[in-house]
Amino acid sequence: MGNDNSSSTMWNGRFTESTDAFVQAFTASVNFDNRLYRYDIEGSIAHAKMLKKVGILTKAERDSILDGLNTILQEIEDGSFSWSVALEDVHMNIESRLTQLIGDAGKKLHTGRSRNDQVATDIRLYMRAEIDFILEEILRLQEGLIEQAKKHADTIMPGFTHLQVAQPITFGHHMLAWHEMLSRDYERLVDCRKRVNVMPLGSAALAGTTYPIDRDYTCELLGFERPSYNSLDAVSDRDFAIEFCAAAALTLTHLSRCSEELIIWTSAQFDFIDLPDRFCTGSSIMPQKKNPDVPELVRGKTGRVNGHLISLLTLMKSQPLAYNKDNQEDKEPLFDAVDTLKGSLRAFADMIPAIDPKKEAMRKAAIQGFATATDLADYLVRKGIPFRDSHEVVGKAVRFGIQNSMDLSEMSLQQLQQFSDKIEEDIFDVLALDGSVNARNHTGGTSPTQVLRQVAIAQQRLEELKKQL
Ligand code: ARG
Repeated sequence: MGNDNSSSTMWNGRFTESTDAFVQAFTASVNFDNRLYRYDIEGSIAHAKMLKKVGILTKAERDSILDGLNTILQEIEDGSFSWSVALEDVHMNIESRLTQLIGDAGKKLHTGRSRNDQVATDIRLYMRAEIDFILEEILRLQEGLIEQAKKHADTIMPGFTHLQVAQPITFGHHMLAWHEMLSRDYERLVDCRKRVNVMPLGSAALAGTTYPIDRDYTCELLGFERPSYNSLDAVSDRDFAIEFCAAAALTLTHLSRCSEELIIWTSAQFDFIDLPDRFCTGSSIMPQKKNPDVPELVRGKTGRVNGHLISLLTLMKSQPLAYNKDNQEDKEPLFDAVDTLKGSLRAFADMIPAIDPKKEAMRKAAIQGFATATDLADYLVRKGIPFRDSHEVVGKAVRFGIQNSMDLSEMSLQQLQQFSDKIEEDIFDVLALDGSVNARNHTGGTSPTQVLRQVAIAQQRLEELKKQL
């Protein structure tokens, strides 16, 4: 990036000395805000069309501005555009090049606007596009989870509380738990998008402009829901970016929890799933190792995004109205939150369909953990014993099982009857893992019937949302 061009041509009228070289570099944002170029140009095109519509630009001036902006777009995309730190940011780099290309008409583009409403508009256009992409990725990931749930609606695994075996569940039910988390993340982003999709352009520096601008027209051209209603607020607040980071932090928190489970499941001690080699790496010293790097990284990257949320909240909290240069610091955290979320979602969307649960190992773990102890307690309740008493009875049976290394289902009827004479031959269906999950047959329960019912509902939602995208 060069620093040959002086920014002074843009604003130095009242200055008596040129900017200190360090200060110039310190205050510049072009190194990172140049990624907004497409939205900056899109906003400028709409602004130029509006200026022509209200009679501020002639048709010839507008056309030459549009030509110039399209040339700049091409230059940036083919890598021939030369960015200059001296021109501070993406906005002034593009405007300066425009004037270089088309002469005086270029200098008229900034009529009735300021970089303050320009940058707020650019970020909102950028975020709207990124949110749409992220929503698609969430759906792609959810599609994989639904597929797994369908395939494993009756695959038994132990369910945990406190990471101790609790009750048998189905792998499909577990996949759908992740799916539910992501549905809420999806809704949060859709909601956030509504507040992103409001147009600051026309607010100018802070108070609006004396030119007869037509904000409804620019709004329509840029596809915003409506123009902002208060110019001070519109150039100043970045709550929409904070909201996005909050939604991103929650989504990543969910992915981090899923990662943690995948990591545990791939350990030799659990051995519940196999992660294909392409999502893992080896160790340079321990030849036997296959490490679950992708989920570990997603878990780690969650910390970055949580940090970005705090950065943006802190950035905003003491700013008086209206625009302050502090806001230039919104971009790096926001961009990194977007990149990190996109990368993590992509990793998960690619990885989930490739997971292969090891049915035998999961079943064995459920048996070893006395996962059907609650089922025995519920059975005794059905035979008239109060729950607290049946809890006690089953506790004793479990102790006997531990001492003799056998699961409840492995005990003879006689052995079971020493704990309660209410226990009869029909107990063995109850203590079987499949009987246990089948019995939890209500909305939200783990039975295969319910899992398939939820799969159907999830599939229908997915199809409807895909149509809207
Ligand atoms: N680079 C600035 C930012 O990112 C653009 C707006 C600058 N406005 C100003 N008056 N200095 O916020």
